[in-house]
Amino acid sequence: MSICTCNREGGRCAEMSMVCLTDFEEYAKEHLSKATWDYYAAGADECCTRDDNLLAYKRIRLRPRILRDVSVCDTRTTVQGTEISFPVGIAPTAFHCLAWHEGEVATARATEALNTCTYSTCSVEEIVAAAPNGYRWFQLYVYRDRKLSEHIVQRAESLGYKALVLTVDVPYTGKRRNDIRNQFKLPPHLKVKNFDGVFQQAEAYGVPPDTLDPSISWKDVQWLQSITRLPIIIKGILTKEDAELAVEHGVQGIIVSNHGGRQLDGGPASIDALAEIVNTVRGRIEVYVDGGIRTGSDVLKALALGAKCVFIGRPAIWGLAYKGEEGVREVLQILNDEFRLSMALSGCRNVAEISRDLIQCSKL
Ligand SMILES: Cc1cc2nc3c(=O)[nH]c(=O)nc-3n(C[C@H](O)[C@H](O)[C@H](O)COP(=O)(O)O)c2cc1C
Repeated sequence: MSICTCNREGGRCAEMSMVCLTDFEEYAKEHLSKATWDYYAAGADECCTRDDNLLAYKRIRLRPRILRDVSVCDTRTTVQGTEISFPVGIAPTAFHCLAWHEGEVATARATEALNTCTYSTCSVEEIVAAAPNGYRWFQLYVYRDRKLSEHIVQRAESLGYKALVLTVDVPYTGKRRNDIRNQFKLPPHLKVKNFDGVFQQAEAYGVPPDTLDPSISWKDVQWLQSITRLPIIIKGILTKEDAELAVEHGVQGIIVSNHGGRQLDGGPASIDALAEIVNTVRGRIEVYVDGGIRTGSDVLKALALGAKCVFIGRPAIWGLAYKGEEGVREVLQILNDEFRLSMALSGCRNVAEISRDLIQCSKL
């Protein structure tokens, strides 16, 4: 740990070296405005599900194997047929400009170098221009005006996005108490850029007012398939019943997610929902998970329980708040290093060797 030279009383400054993801959290909490911090940190209602996302990882115990020559550990894997350097991507989170002036452009540059996948709700053209070689998916909501969704899908597709992530857990926005107390709003100089010229007024929760369609149903998945050739990944599934329906509807992947605990409070921790979904899907499509991943051993646990890849939401924002592109890069590098170490300490030389045998049986 380096010595802080800025004479701050306690706390964390940009001169200090970062050791783990919670160091970035501490920094972000200290340096962002209260309303911005609260917006990023928010969970729904009493935040039980948000907090359980982290606690659930801590309840899982590993069964490490030994004496397996782990002098070389290969963290590479594939998602949807594309190789990525390690099985961590950036989850879609709104309003990166609140954390760092370059916003999603900085996030995209950071993830291009590490060859992880990213998707964003911000201007697709700017992101592609900033990081032309990045591997990225586009996260989509279904809007009341289907023409608007269609327009965005076509833009993403023509710009080379490789998959559509359809978020299905926001028929309405969850009740986030501090946002209400703070009367959280985007400052007037920022906009939801993908809607520039379409909607003038950016609403507090990332989408223009009254545009999300609460009548969204499986029929809309079929509709989406009819307007795109891109693979469709459904984000926000938490039960085996919905996982089976997703497979039957011919989508290419599932992200097991509770939206970082920001939607239904009282739902399961996403890692606790993973095993039943993987058991149901039986390898027919890829299954990913997000929510509460803060260490390399969390990544290992998720893969051992059957996730092909995981996504991080808030930690990427903390990295941005710390040092923009460089901060996100550092977050990913730390997670990559920790994951590699956890693999080695549990006797896994490559991701194919990460199996359920690594998990103590109460989770299976
Ligand atoms: C500030 C914030 C904004 C988010 N915005 C979106 C969004 O626009 N679309 C979406 O599908 N998920 C959104 N999410 C959920 C994330 O994609 C992801 O599911 C969640 O953050 C993962 O949990 P973690 O933050 O504990 O890693 C958001 C999450 C946060 C924290």
